[in-house]
Amino acid sequence: MNRSKRMHAVTGAYGYSGKYITRRLLAKGEEVITLTNSPDRPNPFGGEVQARPFDFDNLAKLTESLADVDVLYITYWVRFNHRHFTYAQAIHNTLTLFDAAEAAGVRRIVYVSITNPSGNSPLEYFRGKAKLEKALQTSGLSNAIIRPTVLFGPEDILVNNIAWTLRRLPVFGVFGDGQYRLEPIHVDDLAALIVEHGQHDKNVTVNANGPEIFSYRQMVETIRDILKLRCKIIGIPSRVAHAIGYLVGKCVGDVTITRDEIHALQNELLFANTPPTGTIRLTDYAAEHAPDLGRSYHSELKRRTNRIAAYT
Ligand SMILES: NC(=O)c1ccc[n+]([C@@H]2O[C@H](COP(=O)([O-])OP(=O)(O)OC[C@H]3O[C@@H](n4cnc5c(N)ncnc54)[C@H](OP(=O)(O)O)[C@@H]3O)[C@@H](O)[C@H]2O)c1
Repeated sequence: MNRSKRMHAVTGAYGYSGKYITRRLLAKGEEVITLTNSPDRPNPFGGEVQARPFDFDNLAKLTESLADVDVLYITYWVRFNHRHFTYAQAIHNTLTLFDAAEAAGVRRIVYVSITNPSGNSPLEYFRGKAKLEKALQTSGLSNAIIRPTVLFGPEDILVNNIAWTLRRLPVFGVFGDGQYRLEPIHVDDLAALIVEHGQHDKNVTVNANGPEIFSYRQMVETIRDILKLRCKIIGIPSRVAHAIGYLVGKCVGDVTITRDEIHALQNELLFANTPPTGTIRLTDYAAEHAPDLGRSYHSELKRRTNRIAAYT
């Protein structure tokens, strides 16, 4: 097969960050395909973006799917361990994707990681990301590793579901004292950074963080005030908060927050402490989207079990 290498391949282009990356690539006049397990989700790009299957269990087929690809943008990951998916699988599958890309002659990979990954982390999420970063850095592939803090945007889960809770309950419990910092980045600022790094050749690792630094408590208060709500915000022990989150999750059929996510927040793992790369402020975004923010609950598990529905 002698297909010219002109394509950009984005994982999950009908999902969250992959959609914004794809939109930016198309606006630059690039040709884009997506790798996904959800080809039947509504395709926001019409016929412009063809879906190819992940084929993680068939290296030859996955390699063939990447035969015409110049740059591969990987957003693929799982948020937590579940009976239907695990971090271990996601790591294994991502390593397969690196191998397929190398075998197919893909020129460059842009890999979406997380702020502060570490091989010594007690959290499987952050250890897994560190392992994948290392594997990519020691592969023969040109690479950019982009490390986002928490994302916000119309399809996000954390910020939307904080607003959803603030709209419904008279009291909102932050984990512990709520004083740990985070720097949320808008999903389109992340996409811009990712697309920019797809164009270069140099191997780089960069944080993707927004222009505002909040303590977690400040962020919740800011959202409450912008939405003109009266919910009282109190600190509660993280174990109690997790138990409440678990019960809310049972009611809405989701995993609202995991112990690892609480640990990551409290240990400022979503705080990059480097100059911001994004320009869109969460406060402006929340004010602009105030009528819609938190009106409906955004379910991670629904996205995983219903593979024909759009994210919003
Ligand atoms: N969202 C955040 O706040 C945030 C913060 C920091 C870092 N990140 C990183 O950013 C990347 C993209 O995140 P995102 O929120 O934009 O993700 P997403 O669009 O929801 O999903 C990205 C890709 O992963 C696949 N995927 C997700 N969960 C899966 C599961 N449980 N089983 C099988 N496949 C699954 C999706 O599959 P389909 O194509 O089949 O739908 C899609 O291809 C991830 O690597 C994440 O670690 C995200």
